[in-house]
Amino acid sequence: MLLRLLLLVLLATVPVHAANRMQQFLLGLPKPELHIHFEGTIEPGTVLEIARRNHLDHFPYGSVAEIQQRMGDAKDLPSFIRVYEELLSVIRTEDDFYEVAMRYFRRVRQQNVVYVEMFFDPQMHTARGIPYATVIAGLRRARQDAAATLGLRCEFILCFNRDRSAESALAHLEKALPDRDIIIGVGTDNPEDAGFPARFAPVFQRAAAAGFRLTSHCDVDIKGSGENIRDCLGLLQVERIDHGVNVLDDPALIARAREKHTGFTVAPALLYGPAPGAVNTFYFDRCARAAKAMLDAGLLVTLASDDPGIMCSQYVGEVYVATQARLDLSAAEMVAFARNGFAMAWLPAADKARYLALLDAYVQHFPSPESAAAP
Ligand code: ADE
Ligand code: ZN
Repeated sequence: MLLRLLLLVLLATVPVHAANRMQQFLLGLPKPELHIHFEGTIEPGTVLEIARRNHLDHFPYGSVAEIQQRMGDAKDLPSFIRVYEELLSVIRTEDDFYEVAMRYFRRVRQQNVVYVEMFFDPQMHTARGIPYATVIAGLRRARQDAAATLGLRCEFILCFNRDRSAESALAHLEKALPDRDIIIGVGTDNPEDAGFPARFAPVFQRAAAAGFRLTSHCDVDIKGSGENIRDCLGLLQVERIDHGVNVLDDPALIARAREKHTGFTVAPALLYGPAPGAVNTFYFDRCARAAKAMLDAGLLVTLASDDPGIMCSQYVGEVYVATQARLDLSAAEMVAFARNGFAMAWLPAADKARYLALLDAYVQHFPSPESAAAP
Protein backbone atom coordinates (compact mmCIF):
# COMPACT_ATOMS: atom_id res chain seq x y z
CA MET A 1 0.00 0.00 0.00
CA LEU A 2 2.77 2.38 1.05
CA LEU A 3 4.71 1.43 -2.06
CA ARG A 4 1.69 2.09 -4.28
CA LEU A 5 1.19 5.50 -2.67
CA LEU A 6 4.85 6.37 -3.16
CA LEU A 7 4.59 5.30 -6.78
CA LEU A 8 1.55 7.47 -7.43
CA VAL A 9 3.31 10.44 -5.87
CA LEU A 10 6.35 9.72 -8.02
CA LEU A 11 4.34 9.44 -11.22
CA ALA A 12 2.57 12.67 -10.42
CA THR A 13 5.59 14.74 -9.46
CA VAL A 14 8.38 13.74 -11.80
CA PRO A 15 8.26 16.33 -14.58
CA VAL A 16 8.91 14.43 -17.78
CA HIS A 17 9.41 16.18 -21.08
CA ALA A 18 8.75 13.39 -23.51
CA ALA A 19 7.60 13.24 -27.07
CA ASN A 20 6.00 9.79 -26.89
CA ARG A 21 4.89 7.11 -24.47
CA MET A 22 8.17 5.20 -24.59
CA GLN A 23 10.16 8.33 -23.75
CA GLN A 24 7.75 9.15 -20.95
CA PHE A 25 8.08 5.60 -19.67
CA LEU A 26 11.90 5.71 -19.72
CA LEU A 27 12.23 9.16 -18.14
CA GLY A 28 9.83 8.20 -15.36
CA LEU A 29 11.36 4.75 -14.80
CA PRO A 30 12.92 4.60 -11.29
CA LYS A 31 16.61 4.40 -12.16
CA PRO A 32 19.99 4.01 -10.54
CA GLU A 33 23.05 5.89 -11.85
CA LEU A 34 26.27 4.01 -11.12
CA HIS A 35 28.75 5.65 -13.48
CA ILE A 36 28.79 9.39 -13.00
CA HIS A 37 31.89 11.49 -12.23
CA PHE A 38 31.20 14.37 -9.83
CA GLU A 39 33.76 16.42 -11.76
CA GLY A 40 31.94 15.63 -15.01
CA THR A 41 28.61 16.94 -13.72
CA ILE A 42 29.66 20.60 -13.84
CA GLU A 43 27.98 22.41 -16.74
CA PRO A 44 29.72 25.24 -18.63
CA GLY A 45 27.30 27.84 -17.20
CA THR A 46 28.18 26.73 -13.68
CA VAL A 47 31.91 26.87 -14.49
CA LEU A 48 31.46 30.54 -15.45
CA GLU A 49 29.28 31.41 -12.46
CA ILE A 50 31.73 29.87 -10.00
CA ALA A 51 34.76 31.44 -11.73
CA ARG A 52 33.13 34.88 -11.36
CA ARG A 53 32.08 34.26 -7.77
CA ASN A 54 35.62 33.18 -6.87
CA HIS A 55 37.03 36.31 -8.61
CA LEU A 56 39.16 34.23 -10.95
CA ASP A 57 40.02 37.18 -13.15
CA HIS A 58 42.56 35.19 -15.13
CA PHE A 59 40.10 32.42 -16.04
CA PRO A 60 40.45 32.49 -19.82
CA TYR A 61 36.81 31.86 -20.85
CA GLY A 62 34.06 34.48 -20.66
CA SER A 63 31.07 32.69 -22.17
CA VAL A 64 29.48 29.26 -22.48
CA ALA A 65 30.30 29.33 -26.19
CA GLU A 66 34.00 29.86 -25.42
CA ILE A 67 33.97 26.95 -22.99
CA GLN A 68 32.25 24.75 -25.53
CA GLN A 69 34.84 25.75 -28.09
CA ARG A 70 37.58 24.76 -25.64
CA MET A 71 35.84 21.39 -25.17
CA GLY A 72 36.36 20.92 -28.90
CA ASP A 73 40.09 20.51 -28.13
CA ALA A 74 39.26 17.17 -26.48
CA LYS A 75 40.09 14.56 -29.09
CA ASP A 76 40.70 11.54 -26.89
CA LEU A 77 40.71 10.63 -23.21
CA PRO A 78 44.08 12.28 -22.32
CA SER A 79 43.18 15.57 -24.06
CA PHE A 80 39.67 15.42 -22.58
CA ILE A 81 41.11 15.05 -19.08
CA ARG A 82 43.42 18.06 -19.67
CA VAL A 83 40.44 20.25 -20.61
CA TYR A 84 38.38 18.74 -17.78
CA GLU A 85 41.02 19.55 -15.15
CA GLU A 86 41.39 23.07 -16.50
CA LEU A 87 37.65 23.82 -16.34
CA LEU A 88 36.95 22.24 -13.00
CA SER A 89 39.85 24.15 -11.44
CA VAL A 90 37.30 26.92 -10.72
CA ILE A 91 35.74 24.76 -7.94
CA ARG A 92 37.53 25.82 -4.77
CA THR A 93 35.32 26.07 -1.70
CA GLU A 94 33.14 23.65 0.20
CA ASP A 95 30.13 25.58 -1.12
CA ASP A 96 31.34 25.09 -4.70
CA PHE A 97 31.51 21.31 -4.23
CA TYR A 98 28.11 21.38 -2.55
CA GLU A 99 26.48 23.42 -5.27
CA VAL A 100 27.83 21.44 -8.23
CA ALA A 101 26.64 18.19 -6.66
CA MET A 102 23.23 19.62 -5.73
CA ARG A 103 22.66 20.92 -9.26
CA TYR A 104 23.33 17.43 -10.56
CA PHE A 105 21.01 15.82 -8.00
CA ARG A 106 18.19 18.24 -8.83
CA ARG A 107 18.63 17.63 -12.53
CA VAL A 108 18.54 13.83 -12.43
CA ARG A 109 15.75 13.70 -9.88
CA GLN A 110 13.59 15.09 -12.71
CA GLN A 111 14.36 11.90 -14.64
CA ASN A 112 13.41 9.76 -11.66
CA VAL A 113 16.94 8.77 -10.70
CA VAL A 114 16.43 7.45 -7.18
CA TYR A 115 19.89 6.13 -6.33
CA VAL A 116 23.36 7.34 -7.31
CA GLU A 117 26.83 5.95 -6.73
CA MET A 118 29.01 8.93 -7.60
CA PHE A 119 32.71 8.84 -8.48
CA PHE A 120 34.89 11.64 -7.25
CA ASP A 121 38.60 12.29 -7.87
CA PRO A 122 40.23 13.73 -4.73
CA GLN A 123 43.70 13.64 -6.32
CA MET A 124 42.60 16.15 -8.96
CA HIS A 125 41.72 18.61 -6.21
CA THR A 126 44.53 18.06 -3.72
CA ALA A 127 47.02 18.35 -6.61
CA ARG A 128 45.86 21.95 -7.06
CA GLY A 129 45.92 22.76 -3.36
CA ILE A 130 42.33 22.08 -2.32
CA PRO A 131 42.30 20.08 0.93
CA TYR A 132 40.60 16.68 0.84
CA ALA A 133 38.51 17.88 3.82
CA THR A 134 37.00 20.70 1.72
CA VAL A 135 36.03 18.29 -1.07
CA ILE A 136 34.37 15.74 1.16
CA ALA A 137 32.62 18.32 3.37
CA GLY A 138 30.83 19.79 0.32
CA LEU A 139 29.92 16.38 -1.04
CA ARG A 140 28.74 15.16 2.35
CA ARG A 141 26.41 18.15 2.79
CA ALA A 142 25.01 17.75 -0.73
CA ARG A 143 24.39 14.06 -0.13
CA GLN A 144 22.50 14.87 3.05
CA ASP A 145 20.37 17.58 1.40
CA ALA A 146 19.63 15.41 -1.64
CA ALA A 147 18.24 12.75 0.68
CA ALA A 148 16.28 15.23 2.80
CA THR A 149 14.88 17.48 0.08
CA LEU A 150 14.76 15.29 -3.04
CA GLY A 151 14.41 11.77 -1.67
CA LEU A 152 17.54 10.86 -3.64
CA ARG A 153 20.11 8.58 -2.08
CA CYS A 154 23.77 8.96 -3.01
CA GLU A 155 26.89 7.08 -1.97
CA PHE A 156 30.39 7.95 -3.15
CA ILE A 157 33.16 6.01 -4.90
CA LEU A 158 36.69 7.34 -4.54
CA CYS A 159 38.51 7.07 -7.86
CA PHE A 160 42.26 6.72 -8.17
CA ASN A 161 43.66 8.50 -11.21
CA ARG A 162 45.50 5.98 -13.36
CA ASP A 163 47.89 8.66 -14.60
CA ARG A 164 49.05 9.37 -11.05
CA SER A 165 51.20 7.19 -8.82
CA ALA A 166 50.09 4.24 -6.72
CA GLU A 167 51.68 5.99 -3.70
CA SER A 168 49.41 8.97 -4.22
CA ALA A 169 46.43 6.59 -4.53
CA LEU A 170 47.35 4.95 -1.23
CA ALA A 171 47.79 8.31 0.51
CA HIS A 172 44.31 9.38 -0.63
CA LEU A 173 42.79 6.10 0.45
CA GLU A 174 44.17 6.74 3.94
CA LYS A 175 42.65 10.23 3.95
CA ALA A 176 39.25 8.73 3.05
CA LEU A 177 39.15 6.10 5.82
CA PRO A 178 37.19 8.30 8.26
CA ASP A 179 34.48 8.82 5.61
CA ARG A 180 33.62 5.18 5.11
CA ASP A 181 30.03 5.98 6.10
CA ILE A 182 29.51 7.77 2.76
CA ILE A 183 32.32 6.38 0.57
CA ILE A 184 31.31 2.83 -0.19
CA GLY A 185 33.87 1.89 -2.78
CA VAL A 186 36.97 2.68 -4.78
CA GLY A 187 37.52 2.76 -8.52
CA THR A 188 39.97 4.00 -11.13
CA ASP A 189 39.67 6.61 -13.87
CA ASN A 190 41.71 8.94 -16.12
CA PRO A 191 43.82 7.44 -18.93
CA GLU A 192 45.04 3.84 -18.62
CA ASP A 193 48.78 4.33 -18.26
CA ALA A 194 51.52 1.70 -18.42
CA GLY A 195 51.38 -0.68 -15.49
CA PHE A 196 47.58 -0.56 -15.17
CA PRO A 197 46.07 -2.43 -13.46
CA ALA A 198 48.92 -4.35 -11.76
CA ARG A 199 50.47 -1.36 -10.00
CA PHE A 200 47.17 -0.64 -8.24
CA ALA A 201 46.85 -4.15 -6.77
CA PRO A 202 48.31 -3.21 -3.32
CA VAL A 203 46.02 -0.19 -2.92
CA PHE A 204 42.99 -2.25 -3.97
CA GLN A 205 43.97 -4.91 -1.42
CA ARG A 206 44.20 -2.26 1.26
CA ALA A 207 40.82 -0.81 0.19
CA ALA A 208 39.16 -4.24 0.30
CA ALA A 209 40.64 -4.89 3.75
CA ALA A 210 39.18 -1.58 4.93
CA GLY A 211 35.72 -2.64 3.73
CA PHE A 212 35.46 -0.72 0.44
CA ARG A 213 33.76 -2.28 -2.60
CA LEU A 214 35.84 -2.40 -5.80
CA THR A 215 35.32 -1.28 -9.38
CA SER A 216 37.52 -0.06 -12.22
CA HIS A 217 37.20 1.72 -15.53
CA CYS A 218 38.30 -0.36 -18.54
CA ASP A 219 38.04 1.87 -21.57
CA VAL A 220 36.59 0.89 -24.92
CA ASP A 221 38.62 -0.46 -27.85
CA ILE A 222 42.02 0.60 -26.58
CA LYS A 223 45.18 -1.47 -26.85
CA GLY A 224 45.01 -4.21 -24.23
CA SER A 225 41.30 -3.70 -23.37
CA GLY A 226 40.71 -7.45 -22.98
CA GLU A 227 43.81 -8.07 -20.84
CA ASN A 228 42.95 -5.10 -18.65
CA ILE A 229 39.47 -6.47 -17.99
CA ARG A 230 40.96 -9.89 -17.19
CA ASP A 231 43.55 -8.36 -14.84
CA CYS A 232 41.02 -6.10 -13.14
CA LEU A 233 38.95 -9.21 -12.37
CA GLY A 234 42.02 -11.22 -11.32
CA LEU A 235 44.63 -8.87 -9.87
CA LEU A 236 42.35 -6.16 -8.52
CA GLN A 237 39.43 -8.48 -7.69
CA VAL A 238 36.89 -5.91 -8.83
CA GLU A 239 33.17 -6.61 -8.59
CA ARG A 240 32.29 -4.19 -11.37
CA ILE A 241 33.84 -2.77 -14.54
CA ASP A 242 33.00 0.70 -15.84
CA HIS A 243 32.60 0.55 -19.64
CA GLY A 244 34.31 -2.84 -20.23
CA VAL A 245 32.45 -3.63 -23.45
CA ASN A 246 35.49 -5.51 -24.80
CA VAL A 247 34.50 -8.37 -22.53
CA LEU A 248 32.48 -9.42 -25.58
CA ASP A 249 35.68 -10.09 -27.55
CA ASP A 250 36.54 -13.17 -25.50
CA PRO A 251 34.06 -16.00 -24.76
CA ALA A 252 36.16 -17.18 -21.79
CA LEU A 253 35.99 -13.69 -20.28
CA ILE A 254 32.23 -13.54 -20.84
CA ALA A 255 31.86 -16.87 -19.04
CA ARG A 256 34.04 -15.68 -16.16
CA ALA A 257 32.16 -12.39 -15.78
CA ARG A 258 28.82 -14.21 -15.90
CA GLU A 259 29.95 -16.69 -13.27
CA LYS A 260 31.27 -13.95 -10.97
CA HIS A 261 28.17 -11.75 -11.53
CA THR A 262 30.46 -8.92 -12.54
CA GLY A 263 28.49 -5.70 -13.09
CA PHE A 264 29.17 -3.51 -16.15
CA THR A 265 28.24 0.17 -16.32
CA VAL A 266 28.15 1.12 -19.99
CA ALA A 267 28.14 4.84 -20.79
CA PRO A 268 27.62 5.42 -24.53
CA ALA A 269 27.53 9.25 -24.59
CA LEU A 270 30.91 10.73 -25.42
CA LEU A 271 31.67 14.25 -26.54
CA TYR A 272 35.02 13.94 -28.18
CA GLY A 273 35.62 12.29 -31.52
CA PRO A 274 35.18 13.25 -35.12
CA ALA A 275 32.72 16.13 -34.54
CA PRO A 276 33.91 18.18 -31.54
CA GLY A 277 31.11 19.51 -29.35
CA ALA A 278 28.52 16.91 -30.38
CA VAL A 279 27.78 13.42 -29.04
CA ASN A 280 30.04 11.00 -30.90
CA THR A 281 27.46 8.97 -32.80
CA PHE A 282 29.93 6.27 -33.81
CA TYR A 283 30.88 5.67 -30.16
CA PHE A 284 27.25 5.86 -29.04
CA ASP A 285 26.24 3.24 -31.55
CA ARG A 286 29.23 1.04 -30.68
CA CYS A 287 28.48 1.09 -26.95
CA ALA A 288 24.69 0.90 -27.19
CA ARG A 289 24.96 -2.19 -29.42
CA ALA A 290 27.53 -3.69 -27.05
CA ALA A 291 25.23 -3.07 -24.06
CA LYS A 292 22.41 -4.91 -25.83
CA ALA A 293 24.79 -7.78 -26.76
CA MET A 294 25.95 -7.96 -23.14
CA LEU A 295 22.34 -8.18 -22.01
CA ASP A 296 21.74 -10.98 -24.53
CA ALA A 297 24.89 -12.78 -23.31
CA GLY A 298 23.44 -12.87 -19.80
CA LEU A 299 25.85 -10.31 -18.35
CA LEU A 300 24.85 -7.93 -15.59
CA VAL A 301 24.91 -4.65 -17.52
CA THR A 302 23.37 -1.25 -16.88
CA LEU A 303 23.37 2.09 -18.72
CA ALA A 304 25.01 5.23 -17.39
CA SER A 305 25.98 8.78 -18.34
CA ASP A 306 29.67 9.32 -17.31
CA ASP A 307 30.28 13.12 -17.64
CA PRO A 308 27.00 14.67 -18.79
CA GLY A 309 27.50 18.21 -17.45
CA ILE A 310 30.92 19.07 -18.75
CA MET A 311 30.34 17.19 -22.00
CA CYS A 312 26.94 18.90 -22.45
CA SER A 313 25.78 15.40 -23.31
CA GLN A 314 23.04 13.17 -21.98
CA TYR A 315 22.02 12.59 -18.40
CA VAL A 316 21.11 8.99 -17.67
CA GLY A 317 17.40 9.36 -18.50
CA GLU A 318 18.36 10.74 -21.89
CA VAL A 319 20.84 7.90 -22.36
CA TYR A 320 17.97 5.44 -21.84
CA VAL A 321 15.80 7.33 -24.33
CA ALA A 322 18.55 7.57 -26.97
CA THR A 323 19.62 3.92 -26.57
CA GLN A 324 16.06 2.67 -26.95
CA ALA A 325 15.43 4.86 -29.99
CA ARG A 326 18.74 3.98 -31.66
CA LEU A 327 18.26 0.20 -31.38
CA ASP A 328 14.47 0.02 -31.15
CA LEU A 329 14.74 -1.94 -27.91
CA SER A 330 11.67 -3.26 -26.11
CA ALA A 331 10.39 -1.84 -22.84
CA ALA A 332 11.40 -5.14 -21.18
CA GLU A 333 15.00 -4.75 -22.38
CA MET A 334 15.15 -1.18 -21.09
CA VAL A 335 13.72 -2.27 -17.74
CA ALA A 336 16.40 -4.96 -17.59
CA PHE A 337 19.11 -2.26 -17.69
CA ALA A 338 17.55 -0.49 -14.71
CA ARG A 339 16.93 -3.75 -12.86
CA ASN A 340 20.53 -4.84 -13.39
CA GLY A 341 21.69 -1.48 -12.06
CA PHE A 342 19.84 -1.98 -8.80
CA ALA A 343 21.00 -5.61 -8.67
CA MET A 344 24.69 -4.61 -8.95
CA ALA A 345 24.35 -1.58 -6.65
CA TRP A 346 26.37 -1.66 -3.44
CA LEU A 347 23.34 -1.52 -1.22
CA PRO A 348 22.18 -3.68 1.67
CA ALA A 349 19.87 -6.46 0.40
CA ALA A 350 16.74 -4.96 1.97
CA ASP A 351 17.31 -1.54 0.31
CA LYS A 352 17.99 -3.21 -3.00
CA ALA A 353 14.74 -5.16 -2.70
CA ARG A 354 12.85 -1.92 -2.00
CA TYR A 355 14.19 -0.26 -5.16
CA LEU A 356 13.42 -3.37 -7.21
CA ALA A 357 9.85 -3.41 -5.85
CA LEU A 358 9.48 0.26 -6.78
CA LEU A 359 10.67 -0.55 -10.30
CA ASP A 360 8.28 -3.49 -10.62
CA ALA A 361 5.33 -1.43 -9.39
CA TYR A 362 6.12 1.33 -11.88
CA VAL A 363 6.32 -1.12 -14.78
CA GLN A 364 3.08 -2.76 -13.74
CA HIS A 365 1.22 0.53 -13.55
CA PHE A 366 2.52 2.22 -16.69
CA PRO A 367 0.05 1.44 -19.48
CA SER A 368 1.60 0.03 -22.68
CA PRO A 369 4.80 2.04 -23.19
CA GLU A 370 5.18 0.46 -26.63
CA SER A 371 1.89 1.86 -27.96
CA ALA A 372 2.27 4.72 -30.43
CA ALA A 373 -0.22 7.04 -28.76
CA ALA A 374 0.99 10.43 -27.55
CA PRO A 375 1.19 10.82 -23.75
N1 ADE B 1 37.16 10.57 -16.11
C1 ADE B 1 35.95 11.04 -16.37
N2 ADE B 1 35.32 10.24 -17.22
C2 ADE B 1 36.16 9.23 -17.51
C3 ADE B 1 36.09 8.07 -18.30
N3 ADE B 1 34.99 7.76 -18.97
N4 ADE B 1 37.17 7.28 -18.38
C4 ADE B 1 38.24 7.56 -17.68
N5 ADE B 1 38.36 8.62 -16.90
C5 ADE B 1 37.32 9.45 -16.81
ZN1 ZN C 1 33.73 7.18 -16.48
